[in-house]
Amino acid sequence: MEHRQLDNFPKDFLWGSASAAYQVEGAWQEDGKGVSVWDDFVRIPGKTFKETTGDVAVDHYHRYKEDIALMKEQGLKAYRFSVAWTRIFSEGKGKVNQSGLQFYIDLVDELIRSGIEPVLTIYHWDLPKALQEEYGGWESRKIIEDFTRYAEVLFETFRGKVHYWVSLNEQNIFIQHGYLLGTHPPAVQDMKRMYQANHHANLANASVIKLFHELQMPGKIGPSFAYGPNYSFNCDPNNVLAAEDAEELEANFWMDVYVNGEYPLVAWKYLKDNGLAPETLPEDTQLLKSGKPDFMGMNYYQTNTMAFNPLDGVSLGKQNTTGEKGTSEESGRPGIYKRKENPFVERTNWDWEIDPTGLRIGMRRIASRYRMPILITENGLGEYDTLTDKGTIHDDYRIDYLRQHIQAINEAISDGVTVLGYCTWSYTDLLSWLNGYQKRYGFVYVDQDETQNGTLKRYKKDSYYWYQDVIKSNGEKL
Ligand code: BG6
Repeated sequence: MEHRQLDNFPKDFLWGSASAAYQVEGAWQEDGKGVSVWDDFVRIPGKTFKETTGDVAVDHYHRYKEDIALMKEQGLKAYRFSVAWTRIFSEGKGKVNQSGLQFYIDLVDELIRSGIEPVLTIYHWDLPKALQEEYGGWESRKIIEDFTRYAEVLFETFRGKVHYWVSLNEQNIFIQHGYLLGTHPPAVQDMKRMYQANHHANLANASVIKLFHELQMPGKIGPSFAYGPNYSFNCDPNNVLAAEDAEELEANFWMDVYVNGEYPLVAWKYLKDNGLAPETLPEDTQLLKSGKPDFMGMNYYQTNTMAFNPLDGVSLGKQNTTGEKGTSEESGRPGIYKRKENPFVERTNWDWEIDPTGLRIGMRRIASRYRMPILITENGLGEYDTLTDKGTIHDDYRIDYLRQHIQAINEAISDGVTVLGYCTWSYTDLLSWLNGYQKRYGFVYVDQDETQNGTLKRYKKDSYYWYQDVIKSNGEKL
């Protein structure tokens, strides 16, 4: 619908930006930090773009004060970051590593001093290697206790200081990449194991949220879900059904469990019929139902346009991790759906579809299915940037992208959706897990590239100044 007039953004809207520990911190062996599965994985030849690692990343561990000073100058209201589990417990459990914890105490204090609301992500994929080796990480129920204890330490430490918490970042992505595509650690390709690991992640997520509420933590907690709303390729009822199936298996399958503690009907029947359903215990439902989030964190990049895919149709296709436009392959689930190119939208050099209206559609679906506030925990454009001789970066394409997405949020608010805030991905440039350093997302350019010999100097992009004005005008000046 077209509104005659758009609502204003709420006065306390969190204009933010985000990062994740492995992608920015570096200092991978400092101050008692243990080894994570990613520290290991990136050393296996051929796993990441040009063998890039997060050993140094953009050195945020040593430069966080400089980065926060840039945020303050920009007027940022919120900064979403993640804690590396291996800094708190080098082996994933046992004795707390105080010097690792101190880094985050200092970071949070610096943010608060600068008037920036910290948004703390408890888990953004860097599982302690020790837990992977001891019991297979997410494949064991033991992870529930260890993850909960780790979260408890963070709750105790940051009570009253951190008011926004993200439990798991993109469970749907780390589980599918880790156990289906095999492109993230532990690089397994086995659907049955994937659904079992996923079930444990659901339980761990619920357990942490339940604890947060039992401790009466001041603030809110929720998971960040990577939501790519599904469209039908056209009005052929078979394609409409394929899109519905995709929504059921790729979206409701996670978000229904978060909110209602129950797997969605059609998806569960499909898993059962195909011998893929996870083993559950009678007490699981109670735990899942007792971990209802306070908001839905939504990471949004693109939509998926779906068509029917016969039983002998396409399965997993190659992804574009090189930045050579047009190199990604068609992929789908045989017998259910396959993803088609949407002819109505533009694509990035990594073949990601640019669809701001999809953000509005996704927000409305979440709001009306779950009746829950939304915090946009990620949204942004990964592109090549050029640093000029004058030290400037003219990223007007990123400004266009962000402007259109903020406009879509404004429309969703006007449609009746409650939105707590918007965190762009990302604050500084950082390491893209599989795409190296050349795929840049930040407001702040960092001199770091695939050779990993950069000076790490920071430069403000044009988008930095543009967002500064957006924040100052509370979204009026786009
Ligand atoms: C999300 C992740 O999936 O998307 C981020 O939470 C990630 O960690 C971001 O960097 C962008 O993806 P990519 O593959 O372009 O780095």
